[in-house]
Amino acid sequence: MKNLFVVVFAFLIISLTGCEKQNPNQGEVLKKTGTELAVEYRQSLMGVLVSELQKNGPAGAVNVCADTAQSFTKAFGEKYGVEIKRSSYKFRNSENTPDENDLEALDFFSNLFLTGKLNPDTVFVKDLPGKEFNRYTAIPVMLRNECIVCHGEPADIDPKVRNILSKRYPDDLATGFKAGDFRGIISVKESIK
Ligand code: HEC
Repeated sequence: MKNLFVVVFAFLIISLTGCEKQNPNQGEVLKKTGTELAVEYRQSLMGVLVSELQKNGPAGAVNVCADTAQSFTKAFGEKYGVEIKRSSYKFRNSENTPDENDLEALDFFSNLFLTGKLNPDTVFVKDLPGKEFNRYTAIPVMLRNECIVCHGEPADIDPKVRNILSKRYPDDLATGFKAGDFRGIISVKESIK
């Protein structure tokens, strides 16, 4: 037991000092690329979603999703000094309506998907000359089994969830998806000097 304690303690010291070395300027946010940020955001939002689904089931999670998705996205963008957005042809929240860059990225990924060639690691990048945020990056979001409870065929969505969705999003377009479908994109606009 004592040995185990020593091992754990030594590991702690190593990891703490390791951490210090990697991050000499404490408090400064390390510069990440648009792709890294988009991937990190996709993973963190997924983490929030899965833990809500486990704790509260689809009907509880849908409220949290509806209340947190926008503020989570905004806070993530502010933390890294970028604009980040989720979008889709078939969007649920009109805040996620695609703009012209999003439409280009959606077309790009959708064409690959329809010809069976969409690798989920594919990245769409475009320069936006003259704009403050002059680099646009988008990554695809694929629909997974866990998503069906809120984005599947309406008949397969729990009536309680359907009820909440139709109240909050009367113009909801984001149902009727199957696992494996191309669902939409995450885009990042960053300023490259
Ligand atoms: C518990 C219900 C729920 C589940 C499960 C769920 N979503 Fe959503 N989804 C929502 C809600 C609510 C919104 C609108 C949130 C917002 O942006 O304000 C949304 C929005 C989105 C958007 C943004 C575009 C739009 O339609 O407005 C994408 C992309 C998306 N979901 C993908 C997924 C994927 C992929 C999964 C599975 C990994 C998933 N969702 C699982 C409820 C859910």
